[in-house]
Amino acid sequence: MNKNQILSPVFVEKLVFSGKWLARAEDGRAIMIAGGVIPGQTVSVRVIKTRKGHIEGQVLDVLEPSPLEQPLPAHFQVYGGCKWLPIRYPEQLRIKNEQVLECFSGLKARGLLAQTVWHPILASPEIYGYRNKLEFSFGKYISAKEEIHDEFRFGFHKQGEFDRIIDCDFCVLASDSVNEIFQEVNVLSRASGIPTYDPRTNKGVWRHLVVREAKANGQKMLVYSLNTKDPDYDAAAFGKVWQKMSERSDIATQILFHNTGLADIVAGEAEILQGPGTIRETLLGKSFEIRPKSFFQTNSTGAEVLYSTAISLVKSSGGTLLDLYAGTGTIGILLAHLFDRVRSVELVADSSADAIVNAGLNGVTNFEAIQAPVEKFLKDYLGRGETADTLVIDPPRDGMYPGTPADILAFRAREIIYVSCNPSTLVRDLDFFLAEGKYALTDVVPVDMFPHTHHIETVVRLELRA
Ligand SMILES: C[S@@+](CC[C@H](N)C(=O)[O-])C[C@H]1O[C@@H](n2cnc3c(N)ncnc32)[C@H](O)[C@@H]1O
Repeated sequence: MNKNQILSPVFVEKLVFSGKWLARAEDGRAIMIAGGVIPGQTVSVRVIKTRKGHIEGQVLDVLEPSPLEQPLPAHFQVYGGCKWLPIRYPEQLRIKNEQVLECFSGLKARGLLAQTVWHPILASPEIYGYRNKLEFSFGKYISAKEEIHDEFRFGFHKQGEFDRIIDCDFCVLASDSVNEIFQEVNVLSRASGIPTYDPRTNKGVWRHLVVREAKANGQKMLVYSLNTKDPDYDAAAFGKVWQKMSERSDIATQILFHNTGLADIVAGEAEILQGPGTIRETLLGKSFEIRPKSFFQTNSTGAEVLYSTAISLVKSSGGTLLDLYAGTGTIGILLAHLFDRVRSVELVADSSADAIVNAGLNGVTNFEAIQAPVEKFLKDYLGRGETADTLVIDPPRDGMYPGTPADILAFRAREIIYVSCNPSTLVRDLDFFLAEGKYALTDVVPVDMFPHTHHIETVVRLELRA
């Protein structure tokens, strides 16, 4: 088999956790297909790479549809992340549940799940319009090969192509009012006469728009990221844009990031144009302040499901709760009433500062926010002979630092609640926790926070054996 060879017909068997699709070549080798296909489809595939054990391919054409596909309204387009949009939602849940089960199959085979209750996957309360944070990009699309010369595009990055923007005016994951804002900024920014930014020349002005929304009250925050150093930046013309947007009663605050760096990220010195610079969300009856750069779960109603799942698994009370990888302190604050003290450990200074504000907002007084890498905090904490009775762990996608699980075991905490956005790293860490036999895995709950994407959250509970 050679590079660029066309394989057809190819039957798509299933999705695997990495977000790729699995099919089989005639010689039995696995084909990992990147791009938008659905299990049950018959497709043609171009070979991109041939490896010893598998082939990597890119889909060319769909020859036969899948029975899992649903008819969608014409404006429900798949941009960037929401590749599973054509799959019926109950099927998405079934596939995600199976993926988590498959990740745990090695632990099961070794008899480590004997005491585990496997809870059915929990659905997101909203499956469209659920995102409370959307990042839109401005740019150009100039291609002699495709005979396209478009100086102003506003929408989403084409996946895998940092300088290509798909022009659009509707996102299925945004609420109706955020889609309206997206469309209004589209019209106003085009009419401003200010050019879009070009990363290849570092010239131009419009770069990003971030819209954050507090779902509890509909308040919005607009964050503009503009290369204000460019000679074509026109403060008066931009002023007309944000002042017009300020007429909307749901826009609580607007912020300008003077984004003059080369990296394609929303960054730079912040200038508050309107309002307090923050919005306030309510989750499970508690208030949380959101600043432009704060970490906050991007599906608010889904976060309520995730957090109430974690809370329902906590069986102990009293003593010290350590909330590790705490972000803005949400989980620790929601559990504080059960414990004598909560210590919330987070790497990012802004998030840790937000945790202190959030504890104050909710009248939580037995709460301490520690800004430190968890791995360093644990060494110092254990070194001082301090103890913890219950642990909540919610690490980023790559999981914990290699030495951290051993330090966590050293506490001999009576229970550990582990919230994970990556079942592979979760199982790797559980393997370590369970291997010594000191802990039993009592519960596994998959939670779907991100419908139409391949992402999956899992909450588990470990109990110290007597
Ligand atoms: C998945 S988020 C969870 C946040 C929080 N539990 C929540 O639900 O909002 C992971 C958090 O871990 C933080 N983080 C990443 N690496 C870290 C480290 N080595 N030590 C401490 N915190 C870290 C990130 O900044 C992020 O806020």
